[in-house]
Order: sequence, then C-alpha cells, then structure tokens
Amino acid sequence: MNKLLEKLAIKLPIIQAPMAGVSTPAMASEVANAGGLGSLGVGGLNAQDAREMIRATQQLTALSINVNVFCHQPAVADVKRESAWLSFLSPQFKRFDSQPPAQLNEIYTSFIEDDAMLEVLLELRPRVVSFHFGLPAQRKIALLKECGIVLLSTATNLDEAMVAQNEGIDAVVAQGYEAGGHRGMFDPAKVDDRLGIFALTRLLVANLDIPVIAAGGIMDGAGIVAAMDLGAQAVQLGTAFVGCPESSADQFFRAALQSEAALHTTMTSAISGRPARCLANLFTAIGDETDRSAIPNYPIAYDAGKALNAAAKKLGEGGFGAHWAGQGAPLCRSVPVANLMVLLLSEMEAARTNR
Ligand SMILES: Cc1cc2nc3c(=O)[nH]c(=O)nc-3n(C[C@H](O)[C@H](O)[C@H](O)COP(=O)(O)O)c2cc1C
Repeated sequence: MNKLLEKLAIKLPIIQAPMAGVSTPAMASEVANAGGLGSLGVGGLNAQDAREMIRATQQLTALSINVNVFCHQPAVADVKRESAWLSFLSPQFKRFDSQPPAQLNEIYTSFIEDDAMLEVLLELRPRVVSFHFGLPAQRKIALLKECGIVLLSTATNLDEAMVAQNEGIDAVVAQGYEAGGHRGMFDPAKVDDRLGIFALTRLLVANLDIPVIAAGGIMDGAGIVAAMDLGAQAVQLGTAFVGCPESSADQFFRAALQSEAALHTTMTSAISGRPARCLANLFTAIGDETDRSAIPNYPIAYDAGKALNAAAKKLGEGGFGAHWAGQGAPLCRSVPVANLMVLLLSEMEAARTNR
C-alpha cells in the first residue's frame, strides 16, 4: 500500500471523481465500500443541502469519503454582457415556447466566500476535502487540516501544483486535457497549455514532493495501471461512473453516453462560462460559433445554460444538457458501481499479468 492510500485510509488506488449534479451518496458509498475513495461534488449546493448529502453518505458508509468544493474567484457581474447573452440565446428559448430569464444570477457561492460550508465540513469531518478551480485562504486550509482532514486540489499545470504544495495541500489531482467536466484551472483568463494526462502526470511526479493522482480519460483497469506506471499514486475516474445506476445523470445524458455521440467531446465555455469538456451537442455547437468574450462569467452564464436546458427538456429535447464527459466516454459501462469496481480490479490484474 502506498503512502497516499494510507493517508486517505483506502485500500484501492481508485478515486471516483466528485461530480456536481451527478455523484450521489449511493455512488460515493458504494465506491468506499468496495475499497476506493467515493466523492461528493457539493460545489453547486448551499451549506444546508451539502450537509444533508454528506450525512446521507455517512449513513451508508463509515469509510473514507471525499467532499469537493469549488474555489473559483467570485463572478464579476456585467449587466450589459449578460443581457446581450440572453438576447443572443432568446431564439433558442423561443424554439421551446419559452422566454429567457429576465436576469442572470451568480448561482453558486465559491467556497472562498462560503463560511457556512466550512462549518459543515468542520462539523461532519469527511476524511478528505478536495478543491477545484483554486484554493481557499490559508485560514480555511489550516482549520480543515487541524481536524485531521486530508486535502486534495486539482492542478492542470506545474504552477498550480506548486502553489497547492506550498499551501499545504496533501496531494494533487493532475487533471489532463482529456478529462470530462470543468477544467480545474485556477485562473481561466490565463493561457491554457492543455497538457494531456501523460505529460502532466510525469511533470508533476518529477517536480513535486507530494503524491500525484492522475485524472482524465481513464476508463478501465489498463488505464489505471498505465497511469500508475507513470508514477501516480492513485487515479481519479469521473466519466467511467456517469452511466452507473447510482448516478443522477438524466435519461438524455445516459442516452448520449451510450450512443455515437460519446465519440465526440469538445471543450466549451458556452454552457457555464468556464471551459468544460462536454459531449458535443446543440449547446456546444452554439459555443463553437461564439466569441468567448460574449459569454458571461462563471457561474452567471450557467444560470442561462440551466434555464435553456430545462426549457428544451420540457419539450423532449435533451441536446442542451451539460453532458460533461472525458475523451474515454465511448468506453463507459453502465453497470452498478459495485460491479464496475470489481471489473476495474480484475482488469488491473489482467493488465499487470499480461505485460
Ligand atoms: C459529469 C462530471 C462532473 C464533474 N464535476 C466535477 C466537480 O464537481 N468537481 C471536480 O473537482 N471535478 C469534477 N469533474 C472532473 C473530475 O474531477 C475529473 O477531473 C474528470 O472526471 C477526469 O476525467 P474523466 O471524466 O475522463 O475520468 C467532473 C467530471 C464529470 C465527467
């Protein structure tokens, strides 16, 4: 067992990625009970809803779980740009007999500003807390660590990983460009070097003193073994779990994942205001034709994105969903989490034996 697994108090080097809106208490607890690290994505929840979700998971497992929060810089409102964006999307709403919202709101509170969320974490003490989009202030990091909570942070490049290490984070999640969901970059205005998991994992393993967790496009045991051969001490898989019955992905997302659509993912900012890898759909096609500077800040744009998806879904059109998925999407298996964990383990063994 490597040092990271000891610290996380898990048996297997498999972390189920936190997936806001997709991961559930059932998913996280099944992963934990199978020996991995199950995660909850509470970045889109307020403190009260997060408390309920963490409690529900802790009732299903006494083993380690990870709770993930978003540390984005709070949005800068720009009423002019937001109303122009709503006018631009208005014909899409009309297609579904709907009106765009009158105004857009900052629908998520960043953990940077959310002291109520900190209180919940300090009270319920999950074994692990992870940060996406950046880090909170040192005061919050210190308080969490004083409770014995192990801290993880996403890093998409060496600079971010070094900042995480210097701030006292216990291990970094090396998020390759292949990964599904939002790029965890600390500052979305900076140039993105778009490092793939292979180069990023090696770069971080070679330069950091803290353990590296590889993420992005890993779908099966062979992928897990390959990432660990690169020096990662564990792996984080998101898309691989989206099709499981325990996920809260809706029928449209599941159908897209199981169709030819899974072969085509693209990076888009049009849905939420930040770059995220998504199955190519009607919404990402709009994004492809749009100047990024026209899109409101994250998560203000997401308010419009969610409203448009809701309007379309009402009339049976699922092509405006935030169908976050990594490049390995066609390899997704829609089996219960416990079965997937058994499969991953046997594939890891096979990959190691067949060398
Ligand atoms: C549907 C979905 C939702 C995600 N939501 C989050 C999230 O809330 N927090 C987070 O840190 N990462 C999130 N991610 C990114 C994952 O942490 C991870 O980087 C990614 O899933 C790895 O790539 P893969 O999907 O190809 O396995 C999400 C990914 C997906 C697919």
